[in-house]
Amino acid sequence: MEQEILKAKNEGDSVGGIVQLEIKGLQAGIGDPVFFKLDARLAMALFSIGAVKGVEFGDGFELAKIKGSEANDQMDKNGFLSNRSGGILGGISTGEDIIIKIGVKPTPSINIEQKTVDIYNNSHSIKTEGEKAKIPSKEINSIIENFTSDITSNSDAYLNLLEFFEEDALILSHSVNVTTISMLLAISLKYEMEKITTVGIAALLHDIGKLFVPEEILKKKEKLSEEEWETIKKHPIKAYETLKNLPELPQSVLIAILTHHEQYAGGGYPFGINHEKLSTFSQIISIADVFDASTSPKSYRDPLTFDEAFNYIMENSGKKFNPTIAQVFLRDMAKKINEEPIYPIGSFLLLNTGEIGIVINHRLSPYTLRPIVDIFLKFDPVSKKQIYLKIPIQVDLEKDYQRHVIKKITDPQKIENFRKILNK
Ligand SMILES: [Fe+2]
Repeated sequence: MEQEILKAKNEGDSVGGIVQLEIKGLQAGIGDPVFFKLDARLAMALFSIGAVKGVEFGDGFELAKIKGSEANDQMDKNGFLSNRSGGILGGISTGEDIIIKIGVKPTPSINIEQKTVDIYNNSHSIKTEGEKAKIPSKEINSIIENFTSDITSNSDAYLNLLEFFEEDALILSHSVNVTTISMLLAISLKYEMEKITTVGIAALLHDIGKLFVPEEILKKKEKLSEEEWETIKKHPIKAYETLKNLPELPQSVLIAILTHHEQYAGGGYPFGINHEKLSTFSQIISIADVFDASTSPKSYRDPLTFDEAFNYIMENSGKKFNPTIAQVFLRDMAKKINEEPIYPIGSFLLLNTGEIGIVINHRLSPYTLRPIVDIFLKFDPVSKKQIYLKIPIQVDLEKDYQRHVIKKITDPQKIENFRKILNK
């Protein structure tokens, strides 16, 4: 069988197979004669496996070819003399082994040309590559190690580019952070290896254009003049112009670098285009870039805490950031970067309804963006004031899609006040 599979694989094809399942030791009498027949329930479970196209109990189709007197499983004082029914009669287990055969069809991952039509009913030939294996998050470290060794040992072009960075350790460390975050995010988005590496390369080089911005502008503490700001805004174009003639770099890398400061709803720079014209690579790097830049110390401001940065990304989801990627970032990256749930039990949340709730539990996982909250302050639109609810309204945000979290309250004064209100 293994040889058959390998032979088909080498030919760019695939094979199916029939698998026999044997359930031993199940006592007699399990099941139901009408609605919850044991065989019906097992068949339902087996058909939920995508590639299963046939399920047969015992002698199955063969039984249809013989007479009732031959198909019977007769008994003597020691028990059944045969098991043609496959251990289930009338929907109930007989105490014999349950024998099921399942027919598994080949996967559609065929590299051989196949005929198909488009939505206009025009005929075409296509080749598919099929699904690639998903990369489990445990492999993150080795992927990044592979990536790093690839760019440091295999490609002179990348090495030369990295040498550029030696002039500016800050840009290098920011670029490495953005690379790590972007690749982790690509893994969370279940990208295949090739795309994860591509986004990593784009992330590593995304700010290379800043090497052309005078240092006094990059490190200026005071507000930038309009002219200085215009110089900064050109760094994606400078990067594009520097890298565009390198044959090693795919076009998708160049485009991601050129557009990493564009925004989901438009209004970014250098072009001000919106998500319809943006690649997912640039939108991944955009979130990673803002997260790392805002949580790193700058000469002109204190860094945001991780919590504040997560809040900022949530508040700007659908505005500056792609909401789907932001959602995955907030859900998974909090765990990977912060190791703290975004909304731990006891934190106070402002909801879209103007209500304030305290997190009392998490239904699915502590990293959910939709925890269970007790709402204790309600917003009155007439008086425009918050009203205290003596009996809190408990809401499971996984179920109540009318409500969602706007942000976690981080102001210590407000948190103190809420605690006082609750302790009244
Ligand atoms: Fe940048």
